[in-house]
Amino acid sequence: MARIVILTGAGISAESGIRTFRAADGLWEDHRVEDVATPEGFARDPELVLRFYNERRAAAAAAEPNAAHRALAALEADGRHEVLVVTQNVDDLHERAGSRALIHMHGTLTGALCAACGARWPAPAVMRVTDPCPACAARAARPDIVWFGEMPYRMEEIWAALRAADLFVSIGTSGNVYPAAGFVADARHAGVETLELNLEPSMGTRFFDAARHGPATQVVPDWVAAMLA
Ligand code: OAD
Repeated sequence: MARIVILTGAGISAESGIRTFRAADGLWEDHRVEDVATPEGFARDPELVLRFYNERRAAAAAAEPNAAHRALAALEADGRHEVLVVTQNVDDLHERAGSRALIHMHGTLTGALCAACGARWPAPAVMRVTDPCPACAARAARPDIVWFGEMPYRMEEIWAALRAADLFVSIGTSGNVYPAAGFVADARHAGVETLELNLEPSMGTRFFDAARHGPATQVVPDWVAAMLA
């Protein structure tokens, strides 16, 4: 029984048709990140930000989990190893594939959050600036997503799991955004074995004990098969 902490990023959902963040033009779906993924951007133009995430939510709902998401769910369901998936992705493809021990450290498109009182509720398919908060009635509904300048969710729990792990696996993430980009160093510091599975070497590839490069739908099922052999 190995304790395995798995970090996933946009690369695991790429073959489900969801675009990754760091395209060559530096834009995210034709928008500047400052406009759509910061509290300041939301304060300036909430309508634009809600519309942007309504589009992302529709795209995620139309996408299907792929063989990589399914392989991670199968690894957990097998029960031979204790598996925790920590995802930076705001889509729900891991849970739809069957992953149960799952932390959405950057939040999720399926959640709404009141910017006035902090209440949370399930996001409707289309969020509007006029939606009242079910708790305080303020018209300040935002997606329950962690933006730049905000603290990712459940960090203490993630760091504790990392320190207690036997193996840390990073899948489909460029290693550009902290604190997730620092997990490999945190794991190494705690004496945890580290493995990268990515299309190409990431920013931090040299920090990993081992790496396998290729599309997630190939390298992830191959690795899971080896773990269950
Ligand atoms: P990035 O877009 O930065 O990186 C995606 C990584 O996936 C790259 O290293 C690609 O080489 C790799 N990749 C692409 N296609 C792949 C495939 N088919 N199989 C395997 N790997 C593939 O996305 P993230 O690292 O997830 O934060 O970005 C981290 C955070 O930055 C996001 O969570 C988001 C963003 O700003 C917030 O929104 C707060």
